[in-house]
This record gives sequence, C-alpha cells and structure tokens, in this order.
Amino acid sequence: MRDKAAAFSNATDALLQLGVPDVLPKLREADVFVRRFILGGSHSVVTYPPLNALQKLEPRDTIHPIYYGEQASLYVHIAFCETMCTFCHYDVKNYRGKKHSPPSRVQAVERYLNALKTEMKDWGFELQGSETVINSIYIGGGTPLVLEKDQLIDLLQTIRAEFNVREGAEICVEASPLTITAEGGLEKLQALKEHGATRLSFGVQSFDDEVLRRAARGYKRETAIRACELAGQVFDNWNLDLIQSLYKGTPNEVWENLQVLRQVHPPHLTWYHGRYANRPQGDWYRNIEKQVDFEGEQETLIGRMLIWEELADMGYHQIDGNRFVLDERYADPFKKVRTSVSSNLLGLGASSYSHVDMRPHPRWFAVPEGVFFRNISGASDYVVRIEGGDGAVGSALALDRNEYLAASYVVGLRTGRLDSENHEWAHPEMVAHYAELERRFVELGLLERCQIGSEAGIRLTRLGQLLEDEVLSMFYSPGVQELLQPA
Ligand SMILES: C[S@@+](CC[C@H](N)C(=O)[O-])C[C@H]1O[C@@H](n2cnc3c(N)ncnc32)[C@H](O)[C@@H]1O
Ligand code: SF4
Repeated sequence: MRDKAAAFSNATDALLQLGVPDVLPKLREADVFVRRFILGGSHSVVTYPPLNALQKLEPRDTIHPIYYGEQASLYVHIAFCETMCTFCHYDVKNYRGKKHSPPSRVQAVERYLNALKTEMKDWGFELQGSETVINSIYIGGGTPLVLEKDQLIDLLQTIRAEFNVREGAEICVEASPLTITAEGGLEKLQALKEHGATRLSFGVQSFDDEVLRRAARGYKRETAIRACELAGQVFDNWNLDLIQSLYKGTPNEVWENLQVLRQVHPPHLTWYHGRYANRPQGDWYRNIEKQVDFEGEQETLIGRMLIWEELADMGYHQIDGNRFVLDERYADPFKKVRTSVSSNLLGLGASSYSHVDMRPHPRWFAVPEGVFFRNISGASDYVVRIEGGDGAVGSALALDRNEYLAASYVVGLRTGRLDSENHEWAHPEMVAHYAELERRFVELGLLERCQIGSEAGIRLTRLGQLLEDEVLSMFYSPGVQELLQPA
C-alpha cells in the first residue's frame, strides 16, 4: 500500500507515460476534452442513441408493431427520492416515505404504483404473447427503497405475475444511504432478498462532508459508511456509485474516498465523472465565480489515474474507465443490456426507455430494423397518460442499419468492438465514415487495433479510457449529431 505522496507521484508518472499533459492540446483540437455537461441526455454515454436524439410522439401515435422476440430485460423506474441532489438530472419527485410525507404525496405515490401495475399488465400481455423470457430486472430511479416494505414486495410479486421471469434472473434494486440506514431500512433489504432480489445498488457520491453538503445529499460520511456495512450484511453483490468532480471535489477528496473504500470494500464500484445539466451544479459551473470551485481538467485526470492505480492495488479488476469489481462474478450484466441496442429492453414507469432489435425477424418487419422509445417524463404526467388509457410512450427513434453500425462503435468500443460487427447491414458511405473516424482516433492514440478472441477488433487505449465517454460520443452517427444540435 502506497502512502499519499507516493500514490500521487505514481499517478503523475502513469499519466506521463500516456503523454499527459503534453498530448492534451492536440486532443482539444480534435474536440476531445473532459466535458462537464451531459452528453446527449445522460451524464455518461449510457445509451445509444442518446436520449436527446429521440423524436417527440403525440399521445395517439403508434410505435407498433413491436416484436420482443425470445429474450428481454426489464427496467422499472421509481420516480421518487427523499433528497433532490444538486447535481442530478434524473426524473424524480421529492418523497420522504409514508411516515414523513403529507397525505397528498403518499396518495400520488400510490397512484404512480397503480399506473405502473397497469403498464406492466399491458406489456406483460404482449410479452407473454411473444413468449418472451425476462433475463434480468433492474428496479431503479429515483430511489425505490424509499417505498414501504409491502409496496416493494408487491412490486416484485406483480413483475413475476405479469412476466415470464427466468429462474435465477438477476434482480437489482436501487437504494440510497438515507433509505438503507433509516428505521426499517435493514428489514426492507432483507425482505427484498427474500423475494428474489440478488443485487443492491446505491450512490454515496463522496465520503467528504463538504462535498455531500453542497450536493444536498442529506447525510454525512458516517451514515454512508454505515449504509455500506448494512448492504454487505444482506447482499453478497452490491454496487456503490461515486462521482468525481462534484462541486468542491478535488484529487485530495478522491484520495480520502479511496481510504474509505479500503475499509468498506464494495464488490462492485462505479466511479462516474460529474456532468451537469440544468440543475444547480450546472448553474454553478456556468457561473464564473463558482466555476473555480470545480476541479480543472488536469486535476480530473490525476484523480482518475489515482482511482485506477489505487483500486488495482486494492485488488479491483477494471471493467471499463468507470467500473471496477472485486471479482468477475460481480460484473453487472444489466449494464450491457441497457446500453446495447442489439439486446431487448423494456422500460416501465416515467421517463424509462426501451429498445427492441427486430433484425433477427426480418420476415416480420422490413423497416425499421429496430426501435428505441421512451416514456414521457414526470410522474404525474405519466399517471395521467396511463389512467387515460393512452399509453405512456412519448418519444422514439427508428433504428436502421446505419444506426446499428453507430451503436456498435459507441457501445462496443468501451470493451472492444469486432471488425465483423454489422458491416453487412450498413451503407457503404457509413462504413467509410467510421473507417475514417477509426483511423483518426488511432492516430490520436485514443483507439488501438487488437485481437478479441480469434477475431480482429478495435478498442480504447488507456489514454482513450481516461476520456472514455467523450471519445465514444464522437462516434454518434452524423444523423444523431444533427438531431442533438439546439433548434
Ligand atoms: C438513480 S441514482 C442511484 C440511486 C440513488 N438514487 C442514490 O442517489 O443513491 C444513479 C446514479 O447516477 C449518478 N449520477 C446522477 N447524476 C449524475 C451526474 N450529474 N453526473 C454523474 N453521475 C451522476 C449517481 O452516482 C447516482 O448514484
Ligand atoms: S442522485 Fe439519487 S437520490 Fe439524488 S436526486 Fe438523483 S436519483 Fe435521487
């Protein structure tokens, strides 16, 4: 174990070996630098196409026919949190649980859960019709653990009643330090496990009290540590989220967070880059006086290398630029499904998104080959739509062969993309466009040719991983880049 001075000097040396900082001006010329604003609707490139590229639908527009095929995963959005964090752009409403909320809010939550049940019934009917098996389930948000224990159990039972869930499917539920450590929190975790949940995921964001205060998380370091202990008591597989570069975050704060991680040892760790939208931290970043309290690009890169090197020292395997596991069995299979449009995902609840790849069934559908669609945002608007019988889908994008080619880069490069992927589907001009992008990014030192199993492929270099999300966003298709331009 290195001491602090040795760890910083090791991280600086590791960056020097990648050419940092000398290479940064050349990368900036190519438009690749640490970005503090969301990349197409998300704080990281978690989906392709990016959410902001979807086109609005009117309530009665139809996205049918959709054929889900043999397998799909399910995402269920619980749009409520007990805190409104200053960095977060997720679609949530404030709710502190039944005991601490006014009756009108308690009722609104119940109505939302009833609407979810109706949506599950409708889609469940359709997926039973196509004999679709559900391979994994993610109940996220928001903060599902803010619901009452019986509401959570009811949710799990309804999912099993409406869908054909594979025996042994992974079921992940999101929580927060406040909900885990609240009175009854541990009992909720135990009940979730008894009813089939296999994984818990929650955000701590930072163990630094000042960063937490500015993030309006509503707890201090000790509560976060206690939440980790309770999570580990119930679940073998649990994930912790941290965010680098929050307001008042520094490489020193990263170092201090690493010291706590040595103590709490989460089996799976996600360490995001902070990116802001129209939330307070985004406003602070745009404000010249406050911007100085956000770390600069070089500090972010030192912090990132510190994270990589010190986590490796603690025995973590790095899955990509942001995610780390103590053992391969803790890798999150759902992450791949969420990001990869070539697997099927059904999202339920406000603002959740879905994608269906219909290419394996070309007899059925000629065009489009796939579709990406999203429910309307806002818990109350969602409820009104469902109660009115209109369905909740509010935007969509048809996926053609060119978009599948783009997706194979945006999603595939993170862990390695095979040369053979999708070429037979795509237009020759698009193939040429991506071949040229590949050439440029290899020349910049951000991508490298490699062997993946027995096939040739291409992946991010270590330098590319440092700026992973930014590099991947350069591989959005020309059509999608146009859709992301402000009107
Ligand atoms: C739905 S939340 C996780 C569960 C729970 N609501 C919580 O906050 O503990 C998903 C995660 O996205 C990350 N996140 C949210 N907004 C972000 C932003 N603006 N930049 C980077 N990461 C962000 C946070 O790490 C957060 O834990
Ligand atoms: S970070 Fe988590 S708790 Fe905070 S507002 Fe976002 S979803 Fe809710």
